[in-house]
Amino acid sequence: MGVSTVGVVGAGLMGSGIIEQSARCGYNVVAREIDETAVTAGRKRVRDSMDRGIQRGKFPETVRDEALDRITWTTELRDLKACDLVIEAIVEHLERKRRLFAELDLVTGPHTILATNTSSVSITAIAAATKRPHKVAGAHFFNPVPVMKLVELVRALQTSDETMDCLRHFGESLDKKVVVAKDTPGFIVNYLLVPYLLDAVRAVADGTATVEDIDTAMTLGTGVPMGPLTLLDFIGVDTTLYIADVMYDELRDPKYAAPPLLRKMVSAGYYGKKNGRGFYDYANGG
Ligand code: 3HC
Repeated sequence: MGVSTVGVVGAGLMGSGIIEQSARCGYNVVAREIDETAVTAGRKRVRDSMDRGIQRGKFPETVRDEALDRITWTTELRDLKACDLVIEAIVEHLERKRRLFAELDLVTGPHTILATNTSSVSITAIAAATKRPHKVAGAHFFNPVPVMKLVELVRALQTSDETMDCLRHFGESLDKKVVVAKDTPGFIVNYLLVPYLLDAVRAVADGTATVEDIDTAMTLGTGVPMGPLTLLDFIGVDTTLYIADVMYDELRDPKYAAPPLLRKMVSAGYYGKKNGRGFYDYANGG
């Protein structure tokens, strides 16, 4: 089954990236946010990101303008009715996701595939909230979505081959490399990435080195674009803690046990780049 219209629920950091990339790759997009304020913020996020792409010479203004024309913004879930594929990118909360999928099951056509961008919640549990579990799967993108070349597809226990084939084709059409993972905590990337990030926090807490030196060491020593603490600020200190807690709950492996410093930073409201302070202070330009 071909996809021509894509619905995206949630236009935060990840959702807005999925909206942009889908529209730029020629899909009609119905973008749904919870209220007008969130719609305005999502619309701005999509436009600002494409403006950055234009400034860096990635594509001309016509590409942005045509992409923006393909996006319909709405606050109504029922406007997703005609979508061939709906991708959910709301907050990481199992019950809220299950409620949303049960509603999507009612408002979308029987052919519609429902995907979740979750990084930590069980796809199998989300699929079970619908009467079409064979048409539900994970499509985990990476931040910033227009730049990062990967999408991890996650197969729930109930997902059909046809659904996986359709999502693979869709992922490749967004100019992404597709990998497939089982529905296990963290899938591939976070299974390996989260212990590394938590170890970096432990190294700070133990006084192994300064935040800057840990990042410099890992950037120059292993050739990654960002050191672990810059990356943690970029993903979100609170988001990382949430993912680690979900993974620890499932796996009971100490590798995923959040160090006290991470928890304290969240208690202090140091969420990272998004609110101006994390391991670094972004108040004066970083
Ligand atoms: N569309 C297409 N390309 C765009 C673009 C857009 N809207 N906006 C920017 N770009 C391009 C730029 O032109 C530039 O390309 P170039 O290098 O070929 O010139 C590139 O994207 C990056 O440019 P930026 O100006 O945005 O900034 P930087 O050069 O400083 O790079 C970064 C920033 C891309 C974030 C880089 O530091 C990086 O790759 N960091 C690692 C990010 C990462 O690991 N993300 C994954 C996190 S884990 C995750 O998301 C999973 C979750 O579950 C936790």
